[in-house]
Amino acid sequence: MTDTGKPFGDKLVVVTGAGSGIGRATALGFAANGARVVAADLNLATATAVAGLITERGGAAHARQVDVASAGDMERFANWVRTEVGVPDVVVNNAGIAMVGPLLAHTEEDWQRIIGVNLLGVARGCRLFGTQMAERGTGGHLVNIASAASYAPSASLPVYATTKAAVRMLSECLRAELAGAGIGVTAICPGFTSTPIAGSARYLGVPPGEEDEVRENIVRALRRRRFPPEKVALAVMRAVLRDQPVVPVNAEARVLYVLSRLAPGTLRALARLEAKWSPLRAGRG
Ligand code: NAI
Repeated sequence: MTDTGKPFGDKLVVVTGAGSGIGRATALGFAANGARVVAADLNLATATAVAGLITERGGAAHARQVDVASAGDMERFANWVRTEVGVPDVVVNNAGIAMVGPLLAHTEEDWQRIIGVNLLGVARGCRLFGTQMAERGTGGHLVNIASAASYAPSASLPVYATTKAAVRMLSECLRAELAGAGIGVTAICPGFTSTPIAGSARYLGVPPGEEDEVRENIVRALRRRRFPPEKVALAVMRAVLRDQPVVPVNAEARVLYVLSRLAPGTLRALARLEAKWSPLRAGRG
């Protein structure tokens, strides 16, 4: 069932990482505005719960399990969407993980893991669904969830920030490539958002025995920020309607964005201060 009177009535929207946080709010947001939604997540139970909530509220939704870090999984998922539901009008490549700690503390496996999810997961979503949209020939929109970390050097999130900078550049390049096909591409760059992400993040370089305490502190800090994922979801929907290229979301994201353009030296100094005061050190733990 769709509602043609609403902004996304008659539209099909795919969201990855839809079981929690920003992805969940985005799936619910698009559904509330008339879209049919495919809620995909590594965690099928949470994706199913989100799809269930949408149908309870009178919308239309499907839940699918997908690991965006697996090329085969993503290909099967994209084929399923095209065959069973149709070519999507909007795809939100949102699934992501966080790793906190010094760059020198990240192992080869850590790099492979985070690049696999945060960068290659987004690249696969763009390639597979972008191709479907281009072949259909009636346009569409790809939304990639980057981060304010994509333009602010950080001593505590260096590898995460690196993947997000790559997502932002990927989005800018693809935007130029797909403009002629009427397909918009947006990089959304939220600042701190109160979601469960800090609970599942990996913490590197923490002194032995202190990981739980560091995790708890960061979980609490993110909760105290009180910036709800629903506000990011609103920014996502607005970005599609306005076809915006890069969207910093919330106060710190906007301030960091302006500083990155007008006073990048200030951001470097802040990152150095962060390195000095951080409890996380390379080569320990
Ligand atoms: P979250 O942890 O609440 O939700 C992430 C969802 O992605 C979870 O449901 C998880 O199961 C799913 N997921 C993880 N790995 C996956 C995989 N390999 N395949 C499929 N699904 C997978 O996190 P949150 O905060 O909602 O994050 C969503 C996106 O927003 C991420 O890309 C994150 O980097 C980004 N972001 C978050 C910020 C924050 O402060 N919460 C700030 C800026 C960006």
